[in-house]
Amino acid sequence: MKLLAISGSARAQSTNTALLRALPNLAPPTIAIEVFAGIGDLPVFSPDREGDATPEIVRAFQHKIAGADGIIIASPEYVRTLPGGLKNAIDWLVSGEHVIGKPIALAHASHRGDDMLQTLRTVLSTISSNFNPGIFLRVPVMKQTPEAIAEFMTQPAKRLAAEKFLTDFTAFCRDSRPTKPSAMDL
Ligand SMILES: Cc1cc2nc3c(=O)[nH]c(=O)nc-3n(C[C@H](O)[C@H](O)[C@H](O)COP(=O)(O)O)c2cc1C
Repeated sequence: MKLLAISGSARAQSTNTALLRALPNLAPPTIAIEVFAGIGDLPVFSPDREGDATPEIVRAFQHKIAGADGIIIASPEYVRTLPGGLKNAIDWLVSGEHVIGKPIALAHASHRGDDMLQTLRTVLSTISSNFNPGIFLRVPVMKQTPEAIAEFMTQPAKRLAAEKFLTDFTAFCRDSRPTKPSAMDL
């Protein structure tokens, strides 16, 4: 099972990126988690740059999405909504086919940011039929350093919550896999 964990923050010391970076250490060996913290490197989306004109760095991002069994997103709230960089990354996915049925769940590194979460839920349920708002990991570590967050996530209760989140999400990813048509359906 391959998961892609996308940070909505372009900040080097991001708490959301740090939360995502803690997850691979808490996952069972059957789950591989790649953290993508590169939304700040993607060019601004334009429909004029799709198809043959798609920049290589965007193709690489789209390729990661296509190859993942599921996507986890953790993002800060900026001005009561999602950061422009994350929305830009999502815009690059909209016309492609890979995100349409992709299982997606949210993690969040703050006790605040509920306006952003609500909007992001609307956006994600628009682009994927398999966004699951019920699978959610919230860890209130706003303003903590990445090192403190890594340490915090080793506490038994936090570890347990992260393990449950990952187990629930991977079960959902498995259940969401398109079933091959049987001979009866052909
Ligand atoms: C430009 C900007 C706008 C922000 N707007 C909000 C906001 O509307 N509501 C809020 O609760 N926090 C807001 N914040 C605070 C961030 O959401 C908060 O610091 C978050 O934990 C940062 O996440 P990160 O550590 O992953 O970068 C804002 C921060 C910045 C830089």
